[in-house]
Amino acid sequence: MTSALLRTHEVVKKFGGLVAVDGVDVAIEDGDIVGLIGPNGSGKTTLFNCITGVLSPTSGRVEFDGRDITGKSPDQIALDGLIRAFQEPRIFPGISVRRNLLAARARSGRVSEALLERQDSPDAVDRARETAEFVGIGGMFEEKASSLSLGQKKLLQVAMVLMPDPDLILLDEPTAGVNPSMITDIVDLVREVNEDGTTVLLIEHNMNVVMDVSDSLYVLNSGQVIAHGPPDEIQQNDQVLRAYLGSA
Ligand SMILES: Nc1ncnc2c1ncn2[C@@H]1O[C@H](COP(=O)(O)OP(=O)(O)OP(=O)(O)O)[C@@H](O)[C@H]1O
Ligand SMILES: [Mg+2]
Repeated sequence: MTSALLRTHEVVKKFGGLVAVDGVDVAIEDGDIVGLIGPNGSGKTTLFNCITGVLSPTSGRVEFDGRDITGKSPDQIALDGLIRAFQEPRIFPGISVRRNLLAARARSGRVSEALLERQDSPDAVDRARETAEFVGIGGMFEEKASSLSLGQKKLLQVAMVLMPDPDLILLDEPTAGVNPSMITDIVDLVREVNEDGTTVLLIEHNMNVVMDVSDSLYVLNSGQVIAHGPPDEIQQNDQVLRAYLGSA
């Protein structure tokens, strides 16, 4: 068996009588971009919540980098190097892009010195500026986050996820609601982040995007993995086609 960076074992999440995630095994190899797709309500976000400690699985196990992280808090998991972006951008609208990025770094506490140094130390501000430039919002560094377009907010959210230098990022629909020209920017950014050594697990409804950017995909339907493989196989998979047609 190869050693995956992230592995789930039979993860189940029930909400009362509803089984939102129903025995899911995924293995994400270090260095890959992996897509997670499936119809609305198929359990994608709930699986993310179970992986990142936002929810405790009803049963099953989550391993990250060879360690059991099941039941740890999101902050502890972030310290381990696994950071997630939410379906709706979670940014602080009333403060600048700069301050959002500094807060994202301080909150994770990944860099232990960051806890000791002042939040706006020159090093921290340099890193914030570089990260804003890297995602393409360097020109908005001193602007209030509320003045960004939705696409720019999504880029800021990715930048915030990158601030602590994570090993694995989980992105929940990074292109949803974003205008087409900005979608290309976000896809290019995901690729660049990955080329810099960060493993990516990506929920995405835009099939062109997810088939183009992913090394492999998992398909969820009614909380279960119904297919796993490279994009060209997934596109031909009868069960996958049925799941999508069935939900239309
Ligand atoms: N906190 C919760 N309490 C009760 N039911 C929930 C909760 N969160 C999700 N669900 C239910 O679990 C199922 C899976 O939802 P989830 O949000 O994981 O789907 P999804 O695949 O992310 O869908 P989408 O593509 O629409 O974002 C749905 O039936 C949803 O209504
Ligand atoms: Mg979702």
